[in-house]
Amino acid sequence: MDLIRDAIRTIPDYPKPGIQFRDVTTLLKDARAFRAAIDLLVQPWAGAKIDKVAGIEARGFILGGAVAHQLSVGFAPVRKQGKLPHRTLIEEYELEYGSDAIEIHVDAVEETDRVLLVDDLIATGGTAEAAINLLRRAGADVVGAAFVIDLPDLGGAKRIEAMGVPVASLVHYE
Ligand code: PRP
Ligand code: ADE
Repeated sequence: MDLIRDAIRTIPDYPKPGIQFRDVTTLLKDARAFRAAIDLLVQPWAGAKIDKVAGIEARGFILGGAVAHQLSVGFAPVRKQGKLPHRTLIEEYELEYGSDAIEIHVDAVEETDRVLLVDDLIATGGTAEAAINLLRRAGADVVGAAFVIDLPDLGGAKRIEAMGVPVASLVHYE
């Protein structure tokens, strides 16, 4: 796990004073660390009969796409408001530094799909909670959520587990 942790860069005071921004672009450009991160993200869900991966814009697209490929399943993009061309479901949510809204296409997942949610990082869990609400509204069974980074002090993983969705993360920053 040191390989993963060492590949993540921390930018102080971005995008606002007081935020320690955990930057995964340095992990993504490192072939070994990227490969290892995808293998480790997939591992806990190997027997979970995943039908589809849902990834959250923007960094969740890169990681979620690779996880979907590794699992040989399809990918459902969870996008920021106003980016998807077809009919959508929408949820608003609060961020560590602001508020936003995300959407999925109404037909992004099937009613019977067992979905794994993927993102780079969980902080307050507001984004993941909104994504799970969307996927559930579309009829999917969200069987797990996988993150490279967890910021446990912000309580996001507990919040998602309280929704009945198991969470697995690779590195934790207090
Ligand atoms: C970041 C991160 C998660 C979210 C986590 O995305 O990639 O999606 O914040 O925060 P939360 O657990 O408090 O909801 P951001 O909103 O910065 O969007 P971006 O990936 O498009 O930059
Ligand atoms: N999203 C919310 N909090 C974040 C942080 N500290 N670093 C990177 N992305 C984030």
